[in-house]
Amino acid sequence: MKTSIAIDLGRSAAKLVAYDGANDRREMLLYPSAVIPAKPLSDEGARARAMGETVTVNTKSYYFGDTAIRQGHDDLLGGLRDDWFATDHHRALFLGGLKKLTEAGVPDVDSALIIVGLPSSMYASHKAQLAKVLSALAPQATIKVMPQALGPYFALAFDEKGQETERIEASGMYGAIEVGQYTTDYALVIEGDPIDDAYGSCSGMSKVAASLQRILQQKDYSVTLAEATQALATKQIKNFGKVVDVWTEVTAAVEPLAEEIYMKSREVFGSYLRKLDKIVLAGGGAGLVAPRLSSEWGTLELVPNERFAVAEGFLRYALAMTTIPEQRGKSGFLGQLFRIA
Ligand SMILES: Nc1ncnc2c1ncn2[C@@H]1O[C@H](COP(=O)(O)OP(=O)(O)OP(=O)(O)O)[C@@H](O)[C@H]1O
Ligand SMILES: [Mg+2]
Repeated sequence: MKTSIAIDLGRSAAKLVAYDGANDRREMLLYPSAVIPAKPLSDEGARARAMGETVTVNTKSYYFGDTAIRQGHDDLLGGLRDDWFATDHHRALFLGGLKKLTEAGVPDVDSALIIVGLPSSMYASHKAQLAKVLSALAPQATIKVMPQALGPYFALAFDEKGQETERIEASGMYGAIEVGQYTTDYALVIEGDPIDDAYGSCSGMSKVAASLQRILQQKDYSVTLAEATQALATKQIKNFGKVVDVWTEVTAAVEPLAEEIYMKSREVFGSYLRKLDKIVLAGGGAGLVAPRLSSEWGTLELVPNERFAVAEGFLRYALAMTTIPEQRGKSGFLGQLFRIA
């Protein structure tokens, strides 16, 4: 079986999961979504390390990932714009992911089946354009663009090998909420049909980081946005050699976003909300907003390894497409799912 790759290029980090069919093994990667123009480096060791994180887009060389953070102090704010998907930075992160997979020994990366996500709100308007741009970068690959909030749904519908699970009923109704850095994305799947009107988006974790930064400032801790973002995961900051616990501040900072996500869910899922069999919650911020949402809905399910859930779900979908090809194009639940991309 050929290689399948799922790429979730988020505004804070790129998450990739690949299945190497020839050796029956998986590869998972996460690197910061930082990109800066490449520049001459004087230190030989740094130069050698940077080689693996250098790509060329439109004849320009870029550093990406940890190298871009180390060499350029990229604050990741470049991703905070709606047209990010049309920039060379986005292309550099895509090519960078393929490069890293090849270096990790995954065969046939160039001719793989590659599934890439787009925020729900941009899916309809940018899908064709993104597929075209990425196909030009990897001409032998088969590229499919999907709404990113469907990833967690697929992670429930299929197991690691791409086989159907019992966790999703063909006749069921499911909501998916994916809490990312820049956006929280929604998807609604009714009897295997994603509902176009329910691809909504609202704010993401960058809002929480900014609010944590303000709360800490009031307590005379002056932290950068990058430190505040990190503190959302660690619940700690460093202050002149001391580690300060900021659990209470993180909990306070997350409240407005959790409320916004709750209100937006009511709007997006509308009259379906009460009837949903499950509401799947994923994305890096899922753990922090889960308590607020589960206090409202007993149907909420936080997916395991939530930050990777989009990429994991897309990979499972790709495996299902390649392992159960006879289902493609057929009527019925799987046939319906395979017509999405
Ligand atoms: N373990 C964790 N605990 C709490 N917060 C976390 C954790 N891991 C990540 N986060 C927060 O979740 C944010 C979003 O992570 P994620 O990787 O899902 O976003 P993204 O995919 O880069 O963004 P987007 O989908 O909006 O483009 C991170 O920036 C971070 O603030
Ligand atoms: Mg994301």
